[in-house]
This record gives sequence, structure tokens and C-alpha cells, in this order.
Amino acid sequence: MKAKAAILFAVGQKLDIREVEVEPPRSGEVLIQMAAGGVCHSDLHVMTGHLAAQLPAILGHEGSAIVAEVGPGVTSVKRGDHVIPLWRLSCGICEYCSDGRPALCAEGTQIRMTGRLLDGTTRFKLDGVEIKHFAGVSSFSEYSVVPANAVLKIPDDFPLDRAALLGCGVITGVGAVFNAARVKPGSSVAIFGSGGVGINVIQGAAIAGAEKIIAVDRLANKLEFARQFGATHTLNAKETNPVEAIRVLTGGRGVDYAFEVIGLPATIRQAYDSLSKRGMAVVVGVAPMAMEVSVPIMTLVFEERVLTGSVYGSSRPRTDIPMLINLYRAGKLKLDALLTRRYPFSQINEAYEALERGEGLRSIVTF
Ligand code: APR
Ligand code: ZN
Ligand code: ZN
Repeated sequence: MKAKAAILFAVGQKLDIREVEVEPPRSGEVLIQMAAGGVCHSDLHVMTGHLAAQLPAILGHEGSAIVAEVGPGVTSVKRGDHVIPLWRLSCGICEYCSDGRPALCAEGTQIRMTGRLLDGTTRFKLDGVEIKHFAGVSSFSEYSVVPANAVLKIPDDFPLDRAALLGCGVITGVGAVFNAARVKPGSSVAIFGSGGVGINVIQGAAIAGAEKIIAVDRLANKLEFARQFGATHTLNAKETNPVEAIRVLTGGRGVDYAFEVIGLPATIRQAYDSLSKRGMAVVVGVAPMAMEVSVPIMTLVFEERVLTGSVYGSSRPRTDIPMLINLYRAGKLKLDALLTRRYPFSQINEAYEALERGEGLRSIVTF
């Protein structure tokens, strides 16, 4: 079948909407009709070359969809089911899957690195030439073929526009709080970067019962959003040294948890420098490839500080996404205010330009 899809042909270019040929799903795969695609910074990292991907590829890894057709052997979902594609495929049986860390499964890495599905081929062609998948999702296409293990069925009455945000921004941010850091009630938290993902770290910290939630950003509009989502203090990194200001706000002690949700060595170091003894810094942002960060060994040893990272919210999506849906329905997780703008799919480049300018929080393209 034919589908309009946004292709990145080379680093530094805009997305090119072209009509591609989508092949039917093979064994263990499903054809999904995209409802909404989330505009996440990780796709932008690929466009600018900060993050490697096999090209040309149909980008997009956050989204919501309806199952259009299932391939041979698929019993977990059926035509008409509403689903969220999961950008980290997992096998379910390896040591990491068994231990509750499916985002570390080798199958996810394979699909991400090769741009092909597990059998080593793609389901997209343009003029007979192979087009790669992105993270096994490629949500910037009217139709996509994904492994059945990489879709999660959601309730039919759950709004598909807001569901799209759960698939990356929300699970990544809230999951980093719940699963990676395991933020304790009454604790202090600093968040570096209050964009689409960082804002979910902020609301995750609020849900977890953190007492002090200090949001850092360079843009005043983001800090305004941060307050709406539960930040108790905001710091503009353009005007103040956030590390010093965090020490002042915590009576010199430092915070129990610091999250870096930007993807820069300098802000990772700031997050680490903001910690109390035994504090934990969690890196969520994706830094340009080959970048390194250094930290003073003295505080690592004599203060027992922890520096770690979190991919895909260190989550188990099949239990975490239903939990997020429950939290939204209970009025505790903000999704309506998170979705600040919708664009028709034809305006996907405008959506990324607005993200680059720092407008809004999270936007989606609709099909
Ligand atoms: N100091 C403080 N804030 C900064 C700085 C800085 N030096 N540089 C950028 N920021 C802020 C931006 O103003 C913006 O609000 O970081 C935020 C980044 O947010 P978004 O652009 O909305 O990106 P998002 O989708 O949240 O992704 C953030 O997480 O998943 C990863 O790949 C993703 O690395 C990216 C990061
Ligand atoms: Zn993302
Ligand atoms: Zn596995």
C-alpha cells in the first residue's frame, strides 16, 4: 500500500514528505495506521547529526495508532485495537527483560542500530529503494509496520492525541523518577531542562511526593510551565549559576536527586555538582555521540554520590503505561496541559522549527 511519510535523507536536511510503498506485515509484525506522532527532541538530534541513525529513514518514535492488519502468528493485538508503539523493542526472555529492564534488551538495540526489522529487511520502499525504520516505530508515516512485541494496546476510550505523549516523553520522564531514581517522599530534586521530557520529570517528582522541586532552564516560558507542573522553585540558568542557587535553596546541603534532561556534558556536570552526600544524578538527555563527562573522584568516594543514566524511563512499558493512564484518569498526571500544539502532518518541519525555538512543551502531528 501507499502512505505519505516524512523521510530524512541526510543529516542537516529537512524532513521530506514522500509517498512510500508499505509492504504488508510479515510473521510477528503488525501494520498500524498512525493517529498522532509526537514531536520529540531525539528526532531533532538525528536531523542535526547529534544522534546516529541509518538513513534514509522515516523518523518519529513517539505516537499512537490503530492496528490496521496483523501478520501471521500475531495474537496479542487485532485489527482495530488502539495502540502505542514502543520505541524500545524487547524479547521478553533475555536477562534484562526478565529482570524488569526491557529497554536494555538486545533486540531493541539491533532494530535501532540497523534501521531494519528483526529479519534484517525493511517494509518501506521509495521508487524500489529501501527506506529505513527509525527505532522500529517510524511514527511520521500514515502507515508503519512494527513488531507485535513493540505495540501496547490501550483502552479504546483513551484519547489518541494524548496517548501519543505516553510513548516517549511521559514514560521517559516519569519513569526516570519512579524507576531509575526511585524518588522518595519528602526529598529534594533538581531538574536541568524543563522541555517536553524534563517537564515529565517535574510532574513525576511531584507525584512521588518530593518536597522541593527545583526546575532549571534558560527560557522563561519553560520555567512558567515548570511551575504549572509542580516545580516549587525555578532557576533561569542564563541569569544565575544554578549550582550555587541550588546550594542556597537547600541550606548548603545539595539535592537528593538531580536529573539532566538536556543532553550536554556541562549540564550533566552541573547536575552532579548540585548533589548532597549520597545524592543521585540521573542523565536522561542524549548528548552528542562520543561526548564525555568528568566528575571529581573525591565526592564520588567520600560523599558516595551516584552518577547514572536512564533510557526509556528504565520502564516496564506494559505495566508502567497502564499506570500512567490510571494516574491521568485520577487527575494526577497532566497530559492535557502537556500537549501545547497540534500540527497537520504536512507541517512537520514547522513543528520541529518551533521545538528548536523553544516554543510550547510538547506538540504532535496528526494524520
Ligand atoms: N541550561 C538549561 N536549560 C537548557 C540548556 C542549558 N544550557 N540548554 C537547553 N536547555 C533547555 C531548553 O531551553 C529546553 O527547554 O532544555 C530543554 C530541552 O527540552 P526540549 O527541547 O523540549 O527537548 P526534550 O524533547 O525534552 O528532550 C530533552 O531528552 O530524551 C532526551 O533526546 C532528548 O536530549 C533530549 C532531551
Ligand atoms: Zn523521544
Ligand atoms: Zn530481551
